[in-house]
Amino acid sequence: MILSAVDTTNSNQLIVSIEKGQYSLTVKWHDGSESEFHYLWLRDNCSTGFHEITKERSFDLLSVSENIHPTQIQIEKETLIIEWSEDEHRSVFLHSWLLEHSYSRTEDLTHKSRYQSWDASFIHRLPHADYSDIMTDDSGLYQWMVALDKFGLTIVDGMPDTIESTTLLASRIDYLRQTNFGTTFNVESVAAPINLAYTSISLPLHTDLPNQETPPGYQFLHCLANESEGGESIFVDGLRVAEELRSQCPDHFKILAEQAIPFRFHDQDHDIRQHHPIINLDSFGNIIEIKYNAHLADVFDVPANLMHEYYLAYRNLMARLRDERFGIQFKLQAGQMVVFDNRRVLHGRNKFEDSTGRRHLHGCYVDRTEFQSRLRILAQKHQ
Ligand code: OGA
Ligand code: ZN
Repeated sequence: MILSAVDTTNSNQLIVSIEKGQYSLTVKWHDGSESEFHYLWLRDNCSTGFHEITKERSFDLLSVSENIHPTQIQIEKETLIIEWSEDEHRSVFLHSWLLEHSYSRTEDLTHKSRYQSWDASFIHRLPHADYSDIMTDDSGLYQWMVALDKFGLTIVDGMPDTIESTTLLASRIDYLRQTNFGTTFNVESVAAPINLAYTSISLPLHTDLPNQETPPGYQFLHCLANESEGGESIFVDGLRVAEELRSQCPDHFKILAEQAIPFRFHDQDHDIRQHHPIINLDSFGNIIEIKYNAHLADVFDVPANLMHEYYLAYRNLMARLRDERFGIQFKLQAGQMVVFDNRRVLHGRNKFEDSTGRRHLHGCYVDRTEFQSRLRILAQKHQ
């Protein structure tokens, strides 16, 4: 059945006609394109089903049958009005709202990742921000977070020479992630280290704590002193390496994305273990996470018929991570803080010579959930 339009102005956001099907209706827009909306979806998203103040859904989907359908549809100037077969209910949808949420127009779906991957040339355009700009100005905070979101790695300059400034800056985003190493941690060479970071030996590229169910998101490493010989920081964009692996060795990419391997940290008080695939995709196929840490990898237990192939893929990834086409290296100076997405960008450091000077980094984490939430709130004001 075709219902004719009551009005057509020059806007492409206007619905000009509706066709009713068994479970859905098809809207024809003024520009000639079409969108399909299912009756259950429309009823589920009726604005009356959301709490007035909290905006959370209060509608109970099981309060209607699966065969609910419109008995009447009316196209008004800016709205579409549906009378339902049940409950004598009436829903009003803005044309613009329907267009914005049109799920059948795949060209409109914006599920593309915002991440922009980088290689070794990134050293020349590594984003820098200033501590005082981030601390005193929301637009400074926003600009910095946008860069961090996109590239996963930034430097903050002008950090005060205090332990507190690490968490003061991180807290501009939101609350901190606590781990078995505390809410903050000191990276210094100590006599009785509980992990390799607290020695002076080199740390090969890794992501922190893949042994956790959800590894920490953004990592903050504030450099208070870096006077020893060596101790340069190394970073690689795991996203870029995984992208290249996907295009050049799709079978290796697949096995690393599908087969979980065990990671483990243990000391006297903890035995924290988790299986994860090294490469994590979202449901749209975007690479959203790399979990890679050779010193926390536990004894592999992938199925026997896949073990040899798994090792080939794993070694392929390892070799690529060390390829100089990808890595950047620099020595953090006292007063600088490096901030990076620990679930995307791998980090490491060269060994340092303890006897030649003091090296002290102070670190903490803020998770991705809090980061993304803050970014959305700031974007409303600053975009
Ligand atoms: C760490 C780490 C890097 C460094 O503590 O997890 O990777 O430069 N430290 O010491
Ligand atoms: Zn680390």
